[in-house]
Amino acid sequence: SALALLMIVFAYLLGSVSSAIIVCKAFSLDDPRLRGSGNPGTTNVYRLGGPVPAGLTLLGDILKGMIPVWAAYYLDLSPIILGLVAIAACLGHIYPLYFKFQGGKAVATALGAMFPVASEMALLLIVTWVIVFWVSRVSSLAALITVALSPVYAWFIKPQYTVPAIMLAALIIWRHRTNIIRLWRGTEVSFQRKAKKKP
Ligand code: G3P
Repeated sequence: SALALLMIVFAYLLGSVSSAIIVCKAFSLDDPRLRGSGNPGTTNVYRLGGPVPAGLTLLGDILKGMIPVWAAYYLDLSPIILGLVAIAACLGHIYPLYFKFQGGKAVATALGAMFPVASEMALLLIVTWVIVFWVSRVSSLAALITVALSPVYAWFIKPQYTVPAIMLAALIIWRHRTNIIRLWRGTEVSFQRKAKKKP
């Protein structure tokens, strides 16, 4: 329907707004595309500016996924369309219209897109991410394992969203290809716990 198409386009346009780039500008930080991993996302904003700018980036990127799916849900669109709206928001984040199609990895946006239709699954994914990050201290590894498990979780909790979950997982894993190479070579950057001061 026309409404479905409108929501998909809206999701893409909203997804294209890069929270990381806007927050870094607002906090007078360096451009996240030019520093650290070069990725305009929460992890890299944390590297540049610490928890407050990172938290705002995370919130902004989650809302980009959440708002269009929520709207589509209340407009009574079908699960297939909801899945397409979620994917459109993530495609906007990854290939943003306003930033030469060079965006981020869509971990937070995909998570946000799940909240309106599968909040228990979103919570389970957050718990998974936190556990893997806690153990490994590597953000990309936590994202990769969490994302790879999302179709499995969907199959058990919300089977109607298994196919969109597979598509999102494939997209996000593909966007982490340079991280995967670094993980493989043992050169991926980790967030070390603060060392205890020597007496
Ligand atoms: O969400 C992005 C994260 O999984 C990896 O970020 O900056 O370490 O490539 P980065």
